[in-house]
Amino acid sequence: MPFPRQGQRRLLEAECVIRAWYKKTMQRVPVTTPNGDYDVVIDSGGLERAAEYIGPIVGDRRIFIVADEQAWRHQGARLEQGLGGLDWTRLSYPGGEERKRLAEVERLCDQMFAAGADRSACVIAFGGGIAGDVGGFVAASYMRGVDVIQVPTTLLAQVDAAVGGKTGVNLAEGKNLIGAFHQPRLVLMDPLTLRTLPDREYRAGLFEVVKHGIIRSRSLFDSMTNERDRILARDAELLEAIISESVAIKAAVVARDEKEGGLRRILNYGHTLGHALEAETGYRRLLHGEAVGFGMIAAAFLAESLDMISTEQREALERTIVSYGPIPLLEGIKPENLVARISGDKKTIGGKIHFVLPVEIGKVEVIRDPNLNLVADAARKALDLSWTSAKESPQPVVST
Ligand SMILES: NC(=O)c1ccc[n+]([C@@H]2O[C@H](COP(=O)([O-])OP(=O)(O)OC[C@H]3O[C@@H](n4cnc5c(N)ncnc54)[C@H](O)[C@@H]3O)[C@@H](O)[C@H]2O)c1
Ligand SMILES: [Zn+2]
Repeated sequence: MPFPRQGQRRLLEAECVIRAWYKKTMQRVPVTTPNGDYDVVIDSGGLERAAEYIGPIVGDRRIFIVADEQAWRHQGARLEQGLGGLDWTRLSYPGGEERKRLAEVERLCDQMFAAGADRSACVIAFGGGIAGDVGGFVAASYMRGVDVIQVPTTLLAQVDAAVGGKTGVNLAEGKNLIGAFHQPRLVLMDPLTLRTLPDREYRAGLFEVVKHGIIRSRSLFDSMTNERDRILARDAELLEAIISESVAIKAAVVARDEKEGGLRRILNYGHTLGHALEAETGYRRLLHGEAVGFGMIAAAFLAESLDMISTEQREALERTIVSYGPIPLLEGIKPENLVARISGDKKTIGGKIHFVLPVEIGKVEVIRDPNLNLVADAARKALDLSWTSAKESPQPVVST
């Protein structure tokens, strides 16, 4: 490693103090894991200042950018300007869930090799969670591992995918079945990138922010409830605040449980039934965040039926989630099919069904193997909610 991590961190810390003095809104969240410490910088306008953050880490090493085409078209010029005199090359990658495959990883590694990349290369993964997962996996694999810097440009990638070190690609049989843990050296988030994000993608990311509030922070949940209009208007200052609080929650969880044992599980609130719904609709009707919105409401109904949460708290939680909808129409979905999918997963994994249930806003508990009739009832109640409407229902997601 040409730059000692400790030295780099001190430099960045000093830099952040000075910058925060000039510009009150810049945020920095340190992440500590057994496999490396790094900073998540949340800075509106940070793309134009990219070299200030990235330069101390890469020095005169070569940078290879894995960017999805659409993110690059909208935001690439800003990064290009910000990288200034650093030595960088952009690799060709189209993006899209159907191109999140090993064949693309090989193609990207081929391009790096042809361009003369050696072990000192540094990858920048630029785009949504797909570019992050693919770019991260390229970095984890190329010459047995080179550095990666994550520059997420969707809300979902900023509050979830870019932090925690999970990277990987899909198999025809399922999502994220090949991958590696590879922690980044830095994560640089610029909330201004979200200005060009399609509205539906943006709102899907907001469901994951609400999730962070429900699992760990009443104050984040209150901001999501009380500041909805400013958040939907993509107010940069407010976005810096809610993104950094979300990142701090994920960082705290990941620091204590890097690889999905106990605590990391709480990040899966809303995901058990959410994943079942995504699978049941063939990954075509809902965005991931929308399915999580549904799953969170259903899990709260389950918690209520087990007397774990008061009706008043469940309704408050539901109101806020619904306020970030609509989600696509869920007509024709059978609760028992969702339950069958969850039981099917259980058999494949050979383990137990875990449900993350809210006990109050800001606090969750994990239960194992709940009564499946109660799960089906909870799913039915969430399906019956009128937060989807034919008039507003978003179009199917046309990918995979
Ligand atoms: N590694 C993890 O821990 C983790 C966690 C959650 C999700 N994921 C993965 O993340 C992926 C989903 O990520 P996503 O929701 O960000 O999807 P995505 O990467 O497909 O991005 C969504 C869309 O927005 C476009 N886009 C990106 N930035 C833009 C911008 N600033 N302006 C305009 N358009 C922009 C993209 O081109 C794409 O069309 C899934 O593959 C999922 O498995 C990984
Ligand atoms: Zn998720």
